[in-house]
Amino acid sequence: IDETLTLPVGVTLDRFIKRQQSAFKGASGELSQLLRDIGLAAKIINREVNRAGLIDLTGGTDSENIQGEAQQKLDVIANVRLIRALKNGGEVCAIITEEDEGIIYTGNNEGKYVVALDPLDGSSNIDVNVSIGTIFSIYHRISPEGTLANEADFLQGGRSQVAAGYILYGSSTILVYSTGKGVNCFTYENSLGEFFLSHTNVIAPKNGNIFSINYGNYTSFFAPIKKYLSLCLDRSYSSRYIGSLVGDFHRNQFKGGIYLYPPTNEHLKGKLRLLYECYPLAFLAEDSGARATDGYQEILDIEATSFHQRSPLYVGSELMVKELMELH
Ligand code: AHG
Ligand code: MN
Ligand code: MN
Ligand code: MN
Repeated sequence: IDETLTLPVGVTLDRFIKRQQSAFKGASGELSQLLRDIGLAAKIINREVNRAGLIDLTGGTDSENIQGEAQQKLDVIANVRLIRALKNGGEVCAIITEEDEGIIYTGNNEGKYVVALDPLDGSSNIDVNVSIGTIFSIYHRISPEGTLANEADFLQGGRSQVAAGYILYGSSTILVYSTGKGVNCFTYENSLGEFFLSHTNVIAPKNGNIFSINYGNYTSFFAPIKKYLSLCLDRSYSSRYIGSLVGDFHRNQFKGGIYLYPPTNEHLKGKLRLLYECYPLAFLAEDSGARATDGYQEILDIEATSFHQRSPLYVGSELMVKELMELH
């Protein structure tokens, strides 16, 4: 679709989505509406993130989420805002999120889509003004329209995603998404309250010299990871680790690099969540020429068996991930 479009400067997210839809004969517009709903939620969360320090939105709640993590206030707020936007939009029949145990029904059983969310990624960075994000993953439901969605709708596997993306609340706020036909980025213009197309058809560098890993876990890494890290050190690669997956991923997509979250003593299967974090970023990686694996297979080929399942994640420049795979 994108090849047939010429994209002048000053294209808003809404306009871009509409154009993509009209370039695709037979598209009903529901996915377009759903992406716009996410755009709206992104604006609202962006506002809350920006003023968090002023209106007592920093810090923790007294509760833990289903992952056993202490929930931050913004984790909860982002979760609520996204769910509300998707309920109001009407295109989504059900949602799962990192913060809740089971399926959240929107009440729109006619909706064709289900969505998996990491409402706020990089929780530990909220209170200290460091980049954080939101990650989303969209599937066409397989259960009949008009019925209640079920588990299987969410466990179709990474290759069944129809769209995925993230919002990075960084030095600027940027919304990045793909429907499998190119990764496009929209930078938020605060004074106008609009996302504008800023990067089209992102192509990730084939190779890079940045590695992103929590080095503090070094003693629990197994041999292939230690070997790969010693290669990085021998070559004086740059070590860059924000601790917000979205931020580390976004940087590496542009500069060339690899992000690694291997199994650790604390997280024997890796820390990151397959449905909310690994699948959507792997979808974007593949669509931009980068690669994402768990060390053995492509992330998108991993079978999904439960909502909160975790996976090791090695994602980034194709040649870097390939070299790591050869050590496994
Ligand atoms: P979340 O805030 O959504 O729970 O995700 C946190 C994730 C990810 O964003 C980040 O890369 C990673 O956890 C950091 O973990 P460590 O602090 O263990 O390095
Ligand atoms: Mn969390
Ligand atoms: Mn996360
Ligand atoms: Mn999160």
